[in-house]
Amino acid sequence: MDPIRNPYAPGAGQRPPELAGRDQELSTFEVVLERVSRGRPERSLVLTGLRGVGKTVLLNALRSAAVRRQWGTGKLEARPDQPLRRPLSSAVHQAVRELGHPQAEGVEQVLGVVKAFAQRDAGPGAKLRDRWSPGIEVAAAQGRADSGDIEIDLVELLTDVGGLAADLGKGVAVFIDEMQDLGPDDVSALCAACHEISQAALPVIVVGAGLPHLPAVLSASKSYSERLFRYQRIDRLSREAADRALAAPAHEEDASYDDDALVAMYAATGGYPYFIQAYGKAVWDVAPGSPITAADVAVAAPEAEAELAIGFFGSRFERATPGEREYLRAMADAALALAESSTDLDAEWELGGGSVPTAEVAAVLGKKPQSLSPARDALLKKGLIYSGERGRIAFTVPHFGRYLLSHGA
Ligand SMILES: Nc1ncnc2c1ncn2[C@@H]1O[C@H](COP(=O)(O)OP(=O)(O)OP(=O)(O)O)[C@@H](O)[C@H]1O
Ligand SMILES: [Mg+2]
Repeated sequence: MDPIRNPYAPGAGQRPPELAGRDQELSTFEVVLERVSRGRPERSLVLTGLRGVGKTVLLNALRSAAVRRQWGTGKLEARPDQPLRRPLSSAVHQAVRELGHPQAEGVEQVLGVVKAFAQRDAGPGAKLRDRWSPGIEVAAAQGRADSGDIEIDLVELLTDVGGLAADLGKGVAVFIDEMQDLGPDDVSALCAACHEISQAALPVIVVGAGLPHLPAVLSASKSYSERLFRYQRIDRLSREAADRALAAPAHEEDASYDDDALVAMYAATGGYPYFIQAYGKAVWDVAPGSPITAADVAVAAPEAEAELAIGFFGSRFERATPGEREYLRAMADAALALAESSTDLDAEWELGGGSVPTAEVAAVLGKKPQSLSPARDALLKKGLIYSGERGRIAFTVPHFGRYLLSHGA
């Protein structure tokens, strides 16, 4: 069918034509916004899930919900080895701008605090000209959010921003993607600041998204983090939601799928949003007309898989060093052996996202587990694998094991 009218959107953070299966998360967030606006105690949301399940697009949708309520919002993406202070000050700056007119009472003063917080980045001895300029015209505040201790400064920053939001009868939401990549000091400061603002009933929330082990990262930092955040696992879509993700955008273009085509699509994609978009895109282009059939899906599959091999799997595999790749392949072999030896486990699931004992991986490689720690730690840091429970390890990328086995990569 006409490729120009192809509605599907595979790609990291690409807004899907239909955000299917996330109604519950969206309505929970509406309740959170309303409660926080009314000064009710409420936990912040943290979305967790595998690569490509739609955390970033959901985070963006939640941000839009906050904007619709005239909240001030800002967003940042955490990166390994990058301190939080600078990206956070940009996000908070953006939120304050959205909150009110620069001349509104109190705005200037809070911008001064944001600037003080931002400029502390360069360290106490830094000359003025070395300091990062956050693009804020007003003078930096003195003695507020500029101690150099990230925990103190963050509490002061968010307290002042929250106070301003409360005065204006609004709220502020800060969105942090890839939250598992924050450094330990920043995580701890963030938890402390969230604790403080929730106790003070200020209308500020932090909404995070990250890989499945993010709750463990947070609770390792502060034991009370479980009470601070409401964790929502973002998973692959149900059959019904997956059908809607495909059929609704097609319907907009006066096209449809027949029932067998939808069955074939679910079998191929496993309901993973990234795969749904990739297959949807490929099948649209090859289908001679509407309705799209199971035969069209079969013809499109190699094309979709080739796209995924480059854009989804390959780009990740390339980040690994040769030693790390060996570890990944051994994980896939161990997962396959596990899947084959068990009767009650779904083999697809094991290869897709299930975990394997690290000891099994070591056995596959014929090495001592300790000698593999550097490779494993590097892969954890690169976000290619995660450890949900002690002594076990899993791919963060769904179907990664299957990809590695089929490509002999
Ligand atoms: N609810 C949904 N319905 C349909 N398509 C979706 C949905 N959520 C996400 N997608 C599609 O899935 C793809 C991946 O989404 P996104 O980048 O948000 O995933 P992610 O979880 O942030 O992945 P990563 O961990 O790699 O950052 C995009 O192409 C997006 O359009
Ligand atoms: Mg993302």
